[in-house]
This record gives sequence, C-alpha cells and structure tokens, in this order.
Amino acid sequence: MSIFYTKPVKSLIDHSNGDETSFKRTLGRLNLTALGIGAIIGAGIFVLSGQAAAQYAGPAIILSFVISAVSCAFAGLCYAELASMIPVAGSTYTYAYATLGELIAWIIGWDLILEYLFAASTVSVGWSGYVTSFLKDFGIVFSPEYIAATGTKMINLPMEGWKPFTHQLGVALAQKGILIDQLQQTTAIVNVPAMLINLICTVILVIGIKESANVNNIMVILKVAVILLFIGFGFFFINYDNLTPFIIPETIDAAGVSHYGWNGILTGSAVIFFAYIGFDAVSTAAQEAKDPQKDVPYGILVSLAVSTILYILVALVLTGIVNYKELNVSDPIALAVNTMGESMIWLRPVIKIAAIAGLSSVILVMLMAQPRIFYSMAKDGLLPKWFSDMHPKYKTPYKSSILCGLVSMVIGGVLPIDILGELVSIGTLLAFVIVCAGVMILRKTRPDIPRVFRTPWVPFVPIVGALICMWQMSSLPLDTWIRLFVWLAIGLVIYFIFGKRNAAKQRAESI
Ligand code: ALA
Repeated sequence: MSIFYTKPVKSLIDHSNGDETSFKRTLGRLNLTALGIGAIIGAGIFVLSGQAAAQYAGPAIILSFVISAVSCAFAGLCYAELASMIPVAGSTYTYAYATLGELIAWIIGWDLILEYLFAASTVSVGWSGYVTSFLKDFGIVFSPEYIAATGTKMINLPMEGWKPFTHQLGVALAQKGILIDQLQQTTAIVNVPAMLINLICTVILVIGIKESANVNNIMVILKVAVILLFIGFGFFFINYDNLTPFIIPETIDAAGVSHYGWNGILTGSAVIFFAYIGFDAVSTAAQEAKDPQKDVPYGILVSLAVSTILYILVALVLTGIVNYKELNVSDPIALAVNTMGESMIWLRPVIKIAAIAGLSSVILVMLMAQPRIFYSMAKDGLLPKWFSDMHPKYKTPYKSSILCGLVSMVIGGVLPIDILGELVSIGTLLAFVIVCAGVMILRKTRPDIPRVFRTPWVPFVPIVGALICMWQMSSLPLDTWIRLFVWLAIGLVIYFIFGKRNAAKQRAESI
C-alpha cells in the first residue's frame, strides 16, 4: 500500500546529489552553526524566561533550562545521526519517509509547518513588542490598534503606555482597586510591525542563501555579544537573597494549577522548551552545505551546546538580579538591566537592540527552513511541483519562500503569541519523537548505511529522548492538543485528495 511506501535511502541521497544544479552549496561549518544559534536564541529567553520563573519555577528556572536542554540534546544527537546519513533538505520529513512510510512522512512534513512557519509568526509578535518599546524610548509611539493581534483589548496605563488586555493584568489592576472598564480602552486591528519583519526576511531569503546567512551571522554576533555583556556585568549585581530558597515551596492556585516546587520546575521546563526550538533548522540547509555529512551534525550540536550554556548563565543572572516574583513581564532582561541601576543605563538600549536582532534572526532562519521542507515534499510529489521551483538567478525556492512569508505575515498580524507558541512547541515535540524513533528503526533496518556521526548509547538516548518529549507534550493544555489534531486532520484530507495519488503517479513515471 502506498501509504506505507518507504523511500530507499540511496534514492534520497542520489536525488539530493542530482540537485547540485538547483541549490548552491555555499555554507560551511561556521555558517551552519550560526544558523542554529540564529534560530535558537530568541523569544524564549528574551520574552518567556521571566514569566516561566515568576509563575512556575522561581530561581530554580535554571533547573528548568537544564531539563529542557537534556531532552533537546538527546533529540539533537538523533538529528545529527540522521542528518549525517540522509543529508537532504527535508529534515524530519525525509527521515520519516525513509523509515516510517509515506503517510507518516506526510503527517510529519505537515506538522513541521507548525514548527517553522508558526514559529516565525510567533517570534514576529515578540519582535513587534520589542521594536515598539524601543521606539517608544525615543518618543516614537504607534497607535495601539496597529501593534497587537486582531481583537486584543488594549488599555492605556498612564505610566506605562499601551498594554494588552489580559486576565493577569485585569487581576493585578483589580488588586490595586482599578477596574478595567474605568480605563481608556481600544481594540487592536492588526499587528503591523509583526507583518513588516516577515516581509523583510522574505525579501532577504529570496535574494540568496549566502546573503541570508551573512545577515544572520551579523545578528548572531550581535545577540551573543550582548548576552555575554549582560552575563559579565550582571554577575556583579547578583543579590544572593534572591536565589534563596532556590526551590520555592509548591503552591496550588484556585484553578488547581501547581506552581513552584518540583512540579513547577517541570512545568517551567515545558514552557521554556520554546527557547531551544530551532537547532533542527540546520538540517534543512543540508543541500546548501559544502560538506553536509560532517558539518550539519556539527552545526546542530555546537549551536545547541552554545545556546544551552548561555541560557543557564542568563537564567542565573536574571533571577539573581530581580526577585522571581517581579519577573512576570514580557521583557525580563531589560527589567534586570533597569534593576542594575543608573551606572548601567547605557546597557538598556543595547539590550533592546540585541533582542530585536535576536528575534529577527529566528524569523529569518525559520522562514528559510520551511520552503526547503516544501521543496523536498514537492520533489517527492506530495505537494505540487510549483513548491520546488527555483529562482533562475538566485537559486532559492523563491515561490514557496514568498508564499511562506505571506502566510507568516498574516498569522503574525492577527494571532496572539500564546496560542501560537504552544502550537509551535507541540508540533516540534512531535517531530523530535519521530526523529528519535527514526534512529532506532534505521539502526535495525539499514545498519549498512555509513553514518559519519553516530548517536551514542542507542537505544538509551533515543528512548529517553522520545519519552521526555512525550511527557512535555502531555503537559501542554487540551486546547493545544485539539488544535494539533485539527491541523493534522486538514493535512490528511490534502494527502488523500492530492499527495497520495500524485506521489504514486510520479513514482510510476520515474520507473
Ligand atoms: N527558540 C526560538 C526562540 O526562542 C524559537 O525564539
């Protein structure tokens, strides 16, 4: 049955070699590592880390970062083996096609849209927040209708400017005796800055992979340099009282949700899992790598290791400077710099610039990855051929890049960050589970294929990696699961109407 058809690994590799004329092989080890860091360090650390500390883990958010790093490291090791065996642009989609059959490959390819395309949209919403706040410092203020998701209630707080209307904000104000309906309110129409950054990244991506990698390199250098400055200076401002007790005693709120203690640390790890998403984007550039078998695994593992070390140090400095209770803000690192006092005033705009650069590179790399997966799916006949059309001069999959940019623009323009972020996490975790399974299956079915990189301690690493990912999926809310199933159901309809038949036809023609 064609739904169980697995693509021979040799034909996948030949197929990618046959594409030498399509993609340009221009990326070396450093560029690939920078792509990984570009995609990883972004909204997770600059936006979500404070909320995760304040609501769930307290100072022990450092442990949450370590737990998430372990699950990503295990998945990363599995990615590295598969990328060294099957170095083609389709990433998990292609690995699944070689191991689990066409239907699962389609499902995972469709699921990866949640990871890459939706991550670009999610991060563009965070980007909009940082850019509008940065410009406000210079007296440039946007109308609130045009800086948030459609339908978001915005209220004007005299001291702090426009704030989105959220339940938490409502509760905080009510505690101070202020009722929201007494304040000036407006309803947002569309998030224009979020749309704009998607447009800019799409233009760069259409122009060329080398050009995109160069822009990414600059942004990565900037964000890593500023994070190092934050860690280096921040270290002297740590107040050790803020770090004790390190593990806050657990409490259960009125809705039955547990906060702090070990349960809170685990929930915190699921929340900040988002911060690690992106290292796998390196594998989608395999057909543009000069030596993919060696350099793609290197790029995946080194970018993950560098980001993990930076995250743990930032978490330590952040919760050491600001008491965790005050960290429930969307710009925690900027808040920590403010807390350092007047002597560090120069660092404030620098942090915002680094956050903006950091978030831009995430959007850029995510929007780079998605069309490359579509490219592989179209080559296999599961999507229309149109998706694999290359620009004659720039050698980029320009049609699908433009389509992805437009879709990401619309989603980023109208949807709020929390719904998007959870969908990205569940979609990515599902892909990680498949990759862990893929390593074990191919070790049994194709032990003969050369593996330049071998995952250590198989089956321990893939089994534990998959179990941690499944556990993290289980901690996501029911709504997110429902959205995932609806999304996959839409994908199945498309597969049975178009992909299955077209792929079979294409296979028959190529025999
Ligand atoms: N890891 C990326 C971020 O935190 C998706 O923005």
